[in-house]
Amino acid sequence: MNKMVLVAGGAGYIGSHTTVELINAGYDVVVVDNFSNSDASSLEGIRKITGVEPKFIEADCADKEAMRKVFEAYDFQSVIHFAAYKAVGESVAEPLKYYHNNLVSFVNILELMAEYGRSNVLFSSSATVYGDAEELPVTERTERKPATSPYGNTKQMSEDILRDTVRANSAMHGIALRYFNPIGAHPSALIGELPRGVPNNLVPYITQTAAGVRECLSIFGDDYPTPDDSCLRDYIDIVDLARAHVVAINRMVEGRTKESYEVFNIGTGRPVSVFELVRGFENANNLKLNYRVAERRAGDVTAVWADTTLANEELGWCAERRLEDTLKAAWAWEKAVRGL
Ligand code: UFG
Repeated sequence: MNKMVLVAGGAGYIGSHTTVELINAGYDVVVVDNFSNSDASSLEGIRKITGVEPKFIEADCADKEAMRKVFEAYDFQSVIHFAAYKAVGESVAEPLKYYHNNLVSFVNILELMAEYGRSNVLFSSSATVYGDAEELPVTERTERKPATSPYGNTKQMSEDILRDTVRANSAMHGIALRYFNPIGAHPSALIGELPRGVPNNLVPYITQTAAGVRECLSIFGDDYPTPDDSCLRDYIDIVDLARAHVVAINRMVEGRTKESYEVFNIGTGRPVSVFELVRGFENANNLKLNYRVAERRAGDVTAVWADTTLANEELGWCAERRLEDTLKAAWAWEKAVRGL
């Protein structure tokens, strides 16, 4: 059985945590990253946590000849593709940057996999494909909504590119994992999220506010039709999310897929409001956060959370970490980054 995996974007937030869990599960990992939204400190963190130095090649996945060298050098049978941009607002302002990076990278990898006879592809998709869903929780059969940003569009297009590619190539298998809202950090506080500039996402904004890097958290809207009037999301611990990748890779490596292309929701199944998350962070870490209510943010959906039955039954995976522990880990990581 080939236990080597290429992790494209393995120095990033989800990629680094997944690399740790793959190594812990006995996989031999090759990381490719161009550090466009990460740095080498995560590779050092991976080494400290696992005691293993992952093989590393600095390359841009959109550079096909650079990627060809990776395929020439290593005989991995499986690839996880994390190497994509992910800021919704930036994608609206700079669509071609997103279409180029996110799609060209993925097509390059798929072409090289077909050429070199590599079989298993795991793609990082997102709950963003469901948009403002009419029925909650969303299942994998819930219809995708037209994307409202170029970022979201690259996720939908990449899902389709993967589906069509593996259906046309009987030697290939593809799984798309639709992540809900990944948060937290490794409990060692050696790896975590390193947003550049002002964070777009809620938890990094909260931890930076608690650390005094930001003055005040803005809660975007308290006039939503939800129990406490703030938006509902499904916040999934980053280590739980990383483990989902391991079981999905196992499924392909062990030949247990039921169809050439499969999709799984990766969330907790539990909706949490913005106010609940803020209070949860305060209680878990015994501190008070400076926050105020602000206008709604354009493009936010009211509520989205996962039906996780399929991942539970087919992957044998479910989220395990308690939200309180996740929020403690998020704060421990921020403190480690700031030297607090
Ligand atoms: N929020 C605030 N203040 C902030 C940041 C966020 O109140 O400073 C609120 C948002 O309005 C939203 C919730 O916190 O209600 C979560 O916002 P995030 O930006 O953390 O996450 P999103 O749900 O908007 O987006 C995430 C991923 C996207 C993905 C999307 C899919 O970041 O990549 O989920 O649903 F597309």
